[in-house]
Amino acid sequence: MSNYSHMFKVVRFPTTPSKDQKPGTSGLRKKVSIFRQQQYLANFVQSMFDSLPDIQGKTLVLGGDGRFYNSKAIRIITRMAAANGVGKLLIGKDGLLSTPAVSAIIRQRKLYGGIILTASHNPGGADEDFGIKYNVSNGGPALENLTNQFYENSQRISSYQIAMHIDYPDQEDPFENTLRRIHQQGISDTYTCQETGNTFEIEIISSVDDYLHLMKNLFDFNQLKQFASRSDFSMLLNSMNGVTGIYTRRIFVEELGLPKEYLMNDTPKEDFGGHHPDPNLTYAHDLVELCDPKKNKRAPVFAAAFDGDGDRCMILGTGFFVSPADSLAVIAANADCIPHFRSQKLKGVARSMPTAAAVDFVAEKLNISCYETPTGWKFFGNLMDADLAQICGEESFGLGSNHIREKDGIFTALCWLSIISSKNEKQTIGSLISVEKIVMQHWETFGRNFFSRYDYDHCKAPAVSKLLEHVRELQTQTMKQGGQLLDYPVKLRLADSFTYIDPVDHSKTENQGYRFVFEDNSRFVLRLSGTSSSDVTIRMYFERYTKDVSLFDHPVEQVLRPVIDIALKSLKIEQILEKSQPDVIT
Ligand code: G6P
Ligand code: ZN
Repeated sequence: MSNYSHMFKVVRFPTTPSKDQKPGTSGLRKKVSIFRQQQYLANFVQSMFDSLPDIQGKTLVLGGDGRFYNSKAIRIITRMAAANGVGKLLIGKDGLLSTPAVSAIIRQRKLYGGIILTASHNPGGADEDFGIKYNVSNGGPALENLTNQFYENSQRISSYQIAMHIDYPDQEDPFENTLRRIHQQGISDTYTCQETGNTFEIEIISSVDDYLHLMKNLFDFNQLKQFASRSDFSMLLNSMNGVTGIYTRRIFVEELGLPKEYLMNDTPKEDFGGHHPDPNLTYAHDLVELCDPKKNKRAPVFAAAFDGDGDRCMILGTGFFVSPADSLAVIAANADCIPHFRSQKLKGVARSMPTAAAVDFVAEKLNISCYETPTGWKFFGNLMDADLAQICGEESFGLGSNHIREKDGIFTALCWLSIISSKNEKQTIGSLISVEKIVMQHWETFGRNFFSRYDYDHCKAPAVSKLLEHVRELQTQTMKQGGQLLDYPVKLRLADSFTYIDPVDHSKTENQGYRFVFEDNSRFVLRLSGTSSSDVTIRMYFERYTKDVSLFDHPVEQVLRPVIDIALKSLKIEQILEKSQPDVIT
C-alpha cells in the first residue's frame, strides 16, 4: 500500500497568459493579491521550467525569506517541479533560505539551479509583496536572456503541469505528507511518476549549515570570537524580522559566543513585524537611534541591519553611519584583514554606476581594475566568473564577493568585524579604534565621496514619460551649449544615458540611467527603479568628491546642497512629478 502513496500522476491544466510577468532587476515581484490569482504563480513557474529544457532529473534548491505566501508557493512549486521532471528538490527547513545561502548551496553542491521566494526588502503580508527569482548553476541570478525567455513563454502559455497523487481514498496526499514535516531537517521522500517511472525526491535541508561552513572558510572565527569577547566591544545586529535571524543566531551567538542580546528582530515573520525590511537610514531608524550615544548610553561599537532575504546590509558605528560606497571602499582597502581575500590575489573591484566612486580611488592605489556596471547584482556575475573582480558593491546596501554570486549581508558584517578586530589587535582595553575612526582614516588617505539618494515613489506614468523626455532634451541642449547647466558655476563634462558593454561576453546593456557629470566630477544621476512591484519609482543620486579634510565632518546634505539644487531645478523633477519632496532619502 505504501508504494502507492509515493506515486504521482502528471495533470495538465489549461491556462491563459498573465500579462504582467516580466521579471525586473531581481525576479518577478508583485502584490500577494496578484500571486494569489488563480494560475498566476503556476503560469510563471511553468514558463520558467519550459525555458530550462535540460532540467529533467536535475537537482534544484528552493526556499525563501519566510514572507507571507512562502509556504503556499512552496507547495505549488514542489508539485510543478515533480511534474516537470525535476529529479530532486532540496527545500530549506521551514521553507527558509536566505538569498546568499541559496547561492552558496547551489555552488557548493554543484546544483543545476535554485528558486528563491522573496521580494527582498519590500514589505510582506497579505496586502504586500511577494516575489520569485531563479538562480543558475553559478549561484547567480538568471541573466536577462533567460528571464526574457521566461517572459516570452509566459506570454504564450496554454497549460501547466502539476503532480497529483494517485487517488486512493484512504491515502493522504503524499506531497502534503512531506511538506507538513518541513520543520524536520534531514527528512527525504521519494516519489515515482506513474507515466514515466522517473523518480522525484524531496529533501528538507538545514537552512544554515552550508552557509555557515562557507563563512568558516572565509573568516577566522577564532580571531573574531576572541576579539568580540573584549569587554570594550559591543554589537547590535538587526534582522528586521527577515530571514537572517536564523543565521545571526547560529553564527554570532552559537559560533562566536556573543550574547543573544546583541540580536534584534531575529525571528522571521511573515509580515516582517509590519515594517519595511530595508536596512537604510529611514527603515532601520530604530537601530540608528540605538547607535546614537546621545540617546543610548550603551550605544554599540558596531551595528548592522539586514534586509528580508539577507543580501543587503547597513553598517553603523557608535553615532556613525557608513555609506554603502564607503563600506565597499573600506573593505577593498583593508582586504588583507580578511582571510578570504588574503588567500587570493585581488585583481579588481566593481560598483554599479549610481554608486559613489569611493572604491575607484582604492583600486587606483592598489593598481587593480575597477568596473562600473549597471544597477543589478547579476552584472557582477561575469566579472567574478572570469576572475576580473573579487569585491563588488552597490549603493542599495548590497556588497559581496566571489565566494558566491549574490550580495551577502552577513558576509559584509563579518568583513567589518574582521577589519575592526584587526585594527584593534594591539589596542589595550578602553582604547578601541572605532568604526568612525577607521572610516575617517580612510577618507584622509583617499578623500571622501559625499552621496545621497532621493526616491520618488508611486509616480504616474504620463508624468514619468514627460520627465524622461525633458531629461533627454536637457542633456542634448546642454551639451550642445558646451555643458553650461542653467547658472551652475561648474560645467558638465558629460551628460548621457549609461550603456554598459560587458567586458567578458561583450553584451550591450543600454538605458541604465541618465548621468550628469560636472567637470569637478560631482554628479547627479536619474534612473527608474527596476524593483518596485507596482507604479514607477524615480531614483535620484547625488555625489560630490572632496579631499578637503575640513569638509569631512560636514553634514552630507549640506555638502551636496548645490548639486541637489541644480539637479532638482534643471530636471524640474518636483514640478513635473507634482511632488514637493522625495518619499525616501537615504
Ligand atoms: C535589487 C538587486 C540589486 C539592485 C537593486 C536596485 O536589490 O538585487 O542588485 O541594486 O535591486 O533596485 P532598484 O529598485 O534601484 O532597481
Ligand atoms: Zn534583498
